[in-house]
Amino acid sequence: MNALKLNREEFDLFEEFIYRESGIRFNLVNECILQSHIFSLMKEKGIKEVYDYYKLVSSNKNCLEEFFENITTGLTKFFRTDSDFKILKEHVLPSLLKIKKRGDRIKIWCAGCSTGEEAYSIAMTCLETENIREENIKIFATDLSLNSVIIAKEGIYDIERMETVPKIYLKKYFDKLSDDKYSVKDIVRSLITFDYHNLIHKFNQYNIDIIFCRYVLIYFDNESVKLTVNRFYDILNRNGFLFIGHTESLFGLDTKFKFANLNNSIIYTKQ
Ligand SMILES: C[S@@+](CC[C@H](N)C(=O)[O-])C[C@H]1O[C@@H](n2cnc3c(N)ncnc32)[C@H](O)[C@@H]1O
Repeated sequence: MNALKLNREEFDLFEEFIYRESGIRFNLVNECILQSHIFSLMKEKGIKEVYDYYKLVSSNKNCLEEFFENITTGLTKFFRTDSDFKILKEHVLPSLLKIKKRGDRIKIWCAGCSTGEEAYSIAMTCLETENIREENIKIFATDLSLNSVIIAKEGIYDIERMETVPKIYLKKYFDKLSDDKYSVKDIVRSLITFDYHNLIHKFNQYNIDIIFCRYVLIYFDNESVKLTVNRFYDILNRNGFLFIGHTESLFGLDTKFKFANLNNSIIYTKQ
């Protein structure tokens, strides 16, 4: 094994493989992050040669999943970029309610949901919106990291993770399990179905009204962003909405989405 550095050929091999399997593009700027993940996984498995590890991840589904757990960052928090939740409550949900028929559900997809905080924040915001009841909402929340999906489904969080939850929601939507653990109440959980999904593949749901895909596309190159965003467009209903992260943009990608800047929140609409 080299002195913990991938040579150019090894880097290209992994870079191409990761891109093919996930749409995530590593480049020379974040090369050392990739390197350190690969070498620590090799060490864990007692593998000495980079190519042997490559053969393992490219042929074994469990090792591939474990590899993705490591190279993706699941950084998240409750009500991250809170202006998006304000827009959801004050503009997006009311405008959808106006065009929905009685009994229709609003379908939301939280794509790249990490450990669940974003999906639960969406669910709580829906429950706090005027004229919305539990039966009006269905949320699908998916991620490439199986481990994250398991944590999300469990819905139990350490007290440090609760800092960004408004006090009033903490009381209303969480059960205190112990001094340092909180569990999401059933009324919130019941709105969400968590599942594994890799965004480079088609999603099996249609007629979605709102997609949250925030701080996920940041890891993709332009081509994968365009492919993913065009798929979003196809499965969204007319008058549907797409939220992306505030550091992300569809500018110059030639998508059919219309850009709307509402109170400093960037959202895209299908019209
Ligand atoms: C930085 S977190 C963002 C979490 C959440 N959306 C938020 O804004 O707080 C990025 C998430 O995207 C997921 N991800 C990365 N590539 C993905 C892909 N190809 N398909 C699905 N999820 C992916 C990662 O596993 C990670 O959980």
